[in-house]
Amino acid sequence: MKKDFLAITDFSQNEVRETLKLAAELKKKKGQVLDVLKGKTVACIFHKPSLRTRISFEVGINELGGNSLYITEKEIELGVRESIHDVAKVLSRYVAMIEIRTFSHQSLIELAKYADVPVINGLTDLLHPCQIMGDMLTIIEHKGRIDGIKIAYLGDGNNVCNSWLKAASLIPMDLRIGTRKETWPDSRILKEAKDAGKSTITITDNPKEAVMNADVIYTDVWASMGQKDQAGSKAELLKEFQLNSQLLAGADSNHVVMHCLPAERGREITDEIIDGRHSIVFDQAENRLHIQKAIMVKLIQSA
Ligand code: CP
Ligand code: NVA
Repeated sequence: MKKDFLAITDFSQNEVRETLKLAAELKKKKGQVLDVLKGKTVACIFHKPSLRTRISFEVGINELGGNSLYITEKEIELGVRESIHDVAKVLSRYVAMIEIRTFSHQSLIELAKYADVPVINGLTDLLHPCQIMGDMLTIIEHKGRIDGIKIAYLGDGNNVCNSWLKAASLIPMDLRIGTRKETWPDSRILKEAKDAGKSTITITDNPKEAVMNADVIYTDVWASMGQKDQAGSKAELLKEFQLNSQLLAGADSNHVVMHCLPAERGREITDEIIDGRHSIVFDQAENRLHIQKAIMVKLIQSA
């Protein structure tokens, strides 16, 4: 049966670990063209802008021997020009896999339900699973492990934060979210992660408490794509959660700083911190390529 990757929890804990291992192996073969996708085409649909996701998928598909098709909203007008059902059925007759970045998570679920080929979530308003899979690979490289790692996520409880919660429901970690009540992550995902009982999950409105003893200090933009009209109000609400040298002066001396990028420098993170010696943001960006290749290999093998 075909398998999709819409959320990290679409994989079992074991599959997540296997995918991380495979990504590390593929990274060692960087630049080599493999034949996993030979003769196959992957549709890459983007309803929002992208640098990392688009390019790393396209390069990754090429490196697996396949072809990619970049499709914007203007071409297929998903659910407008024709139903999501019909788009899913037609695309499945042409391509081996579909990657999609869109607004509504519900539309993604509907596309995956009707597609006969694997569907990968390249970001929705709710989740960004490929990002956090790549980030776990980066943490393993820098810290030697993901299990038991102390992660402080500061800022908006958005798709990236929700995906950390999904990861924490499978892999044991100490996840501390520093945010305001108004910007909490999705309540259902938070409850599921707590109920899974794998990780320690804390939410605090005290940024100092969040970063204390953390191995990893993570942030993302305060206003995500599609919410830029809220940039001013979110900035006011979250200003104490900015990653700056004053806040991080109280952090563990071996911490690493992560940001999925794109960053709004001077807002959620200062230049000093993103360009500082603890920052591993470009390793994160590179690892999107390796992890997505591993995800595609896993899905194509199960299709
Ligand atoms: N981190 C990330 O997904 O970046 P893009 O929006 O550029 O794809
Ligand atoms: N939370 C951000 C992530 C960008 C990669 C957004 O959705 O815009």
